[in-house]
Amino acid sequence: MSTTTTIDEPADTKPANSKGMLKDDALKGKTVIITGGGTGLGKAMGTYFLKLGANLVITSRKFDVLKQTAAEMEAETGGKVLAVACDVRKYDEVEKMLQEAVKAFGRIDILINNAAGNFISPTERLSANAFSTIIDIVLKGSVNCSLALGKYWIREKIPGNILNIVTTYAFTGSAYVVPSACAKGGVLAMTRSLAVEWGKYGIRTNAIAPGPFPTKGAWKQLLPGEIAQKLDFKSKVPLKRLGEHQELANLAAFLVSDFSGYVNGEVITIDGGEWLQGAGQFNALEIIPDKMWDSMEKARAGL
Ligand code: HXC
Ligand code: NAP
Repeated sequence: MSTTTTIDEPADTKPANSKGMLKDDALKGKTVIITGGGTGLGKAMGTYFLKLGANLVITSRKFDVLKQTAAEMEAETGGKVLAVACDVRKYDEVEKMLQEAVKAFGRIDILINNAAGNFISPTERLSANAFSTIIDIVLKGSVNCSLALGKYWIREKIPGNILNIVTTYAFTGSAYVVPSACAKGGVLAMTRSLAVEWGKYGIRTNAIAPGPFPTKGAWKQLLPGEIAQKLDFKSKVPLKRLGEHQELANLAAFLVSDFSGYVNGEVITIDGGEWLQGAGQFNALEIIPDKMWDSMEKARAGL
């Protein structure tokens, strides 16, 4: 069979990183709950999971946003989406959300802890309530959802699957986003702990640590005003670009699918090499032009 592209068969000009990676039925029969699923990366992951045959539950505080997203997703993919309002900080709301999800789809297989809150600030300017608001959304919210789903899976003998969306500063720490760094670090510790403790029930727990992926929510909170020019994320990434939502969705789909069945307790970084760029002792030498290398070479040779 010829592989040559003809006029009738136009070449697929989309770059690979904007296309889906897994087989069309990779998540068929699975039901996924995504917290913070109405916007940004949660929406991107959810849309792709639907294309792979999953049923979807999206949940966050703003029901109007969820309803709108659910309608868009169903129109784009033909899949089924349940929108449920729930503040992940409140355990009773999480329990209710789970009951509604089970009632709608029969069972839940996968939880994505993706909901988050964040802001940049010198730590000493934060009120105690500001600090704990972020800890409550990110750490307590992920704990609440994992606990509710874990109890349900163990009781029902379902080999569940948890995917936590953290950040690279979960393991490096970061100035000016200290509440988020503390909370994400805690979520990473929970990932590795539950992977071991609940492995015996067939429950896998993994995490993704994304670098910069443009979303309205993150950019509004982290790059207000002039900071956008000062903190040029792209220039700090060795690949000199930001992440594509589909790239993250591909990785997430793999990690929640049975194709990654032996991956448990892992955190996979997807950041174009950004965090390492800041870590290596001599990485900053990137700014040295060829001419300066020439003169240093001459100086070394004593010329
Ligand atoms: C300092 C702030 C603040 C800010 C609020 N507060 N915004 N302090 N800087 N920018 C303080 C308030 O004064 C208050 O303290 C306390 O925080 C709670 O504020 P509320 O507005 O009552 O909280 P709430 O309504 O629960 O809203 C939570 C929120 C909000 C985090 C403040 O922005 C939100 O809902 N965000 C969700 C979306 C989001 O943040 N997405 C970004 C994720 S990006 P006082 O003492 O006055 O009562 C991410 C990864 C980044 O996580 C990595 C990128 C590379
Ligand atoms: P986003 O669109 O702002 O997503 C955050 C979501 O969390 C929103 O849908 C929000 O919905 C929900 N949420 C906030 N507080 C909540 C609460 N108390 N209960 C339930 N839901 C709540 O930002 P994003 O960029 O897509 O972020 C998604 C995830 O990726 C986060 O975990 C973030 O830390 C992580 N991440 C993002 C980047 C990036 O560059 N974008 C980088 C690293 C990590 P409501 O307002 O309706 O509640």
